[in-house]
Amino acid sequence: MSTTTSGTGSSAAADGGGDEGSGAYDARFRVWRGDVEGGALLDFTVQVNDGEVVLDIIHRIQATQAPDLAVRWNCKAGKCGSCSAEINGRPRLMCMTRMSVFARDEVVTVTPLRAFPVVRDLVTDVGFNYTKAREVPSFVPPKDLGPGEYRMMQEDVDRSQEFRKCIECFLCQDTCHVVRDHEENKTAFAGPRFLMRVAELDMHPLDAAATTGLDRKATAQEEHGLGYCNITKCCTEVCPEGIHITDNALIPLKERAVDRKYDPLVWLGNKIRRRPTS
Ligand code: SF4
Ligand code: SF4
Ligand code: FES
Repeated sequence: MSTTTSGTGSSAAADGGGDEGSGAYDARFRVWRGDVEGGALLDFTVQVNDGEVVLDIIHRIQATQAPDLAVRWNCKAGKCGSCSAEINGRPRLMCMTRMSVFARDEVVTVTPLRAFPVVRDLVTDVGFNYTKAREVPSFVPPKDLGPGEYRMMQEDVDRSQEFRKCIECFLCQDTCHVVRDHEENKTAFAGPRFLMRVAELDMHPLDAAATTGLDRKATAQEEHGLGYCNITKCCTEVCPEGIHITDNALIPLKERAVDRKYDPLVWLGNKIRRRPTS
């Protein structure tokens, strides 16, 4: 992941000067500039060529008008997840947002992710997400199977593969209202990306967490804040990988957690464990 403060790395089209496509025009951009102390939206008029994306235009602003504009990007192919920002208020990848989706006379406003602290300009500190990632216990391999002996139903493979398409852009984390406007919820709530990880592992047929005493459903509720999620599906709507976060991960995890709560054997076990010993 790289943070550039110059025009290096921008596409050939972005570096060019004159009209490169038949549809070149001047767009009006408003870009947030500032740091943790504060900042403001600055206006730019900048050339747009056929086929360009918002990241091209940000790079052109760097190259021609604001060489110290900070923006994080890497692949320019929608795969590294680093160019996340808010474009006209919607969390999106800058490299996957075509300029053709905006009217030519529309002002395009680019601001940093709102849920995370600003470092500078369009770069935010997404460390919250790495903290949450570390709090989810990893896959526990089954003791009686060696490498190469794992067998799973294709539907279980498909489910995991959908979740594994995640590029860790954290757009879902940014858009979730539980933390977007409530900094105080961050301690108790892991966010959709990491609740999805808990769901993946809890539904994984070979995960042996239970043999170690780890109850992933209980931790989803008690440690990762599953109850805060009211299945609004906003996270699903912004996911650039099209992962059905709410329908395929969060709702099933909620159902499994509720099943566990009302399982008579679990209820009996809890009763016995809570019984006073004196
Ligand atoms: S569905 Fe849940 S996790 Fe996703 S945005 Fe809504 S409240 Fe947040
Ligand atoms: S689940 Fe989707 S939106 Fe969330 S971090 Fe992964 S790719 Fe990004
Ligand atoms: S630069 Fe990699 S996803 Fe946009």
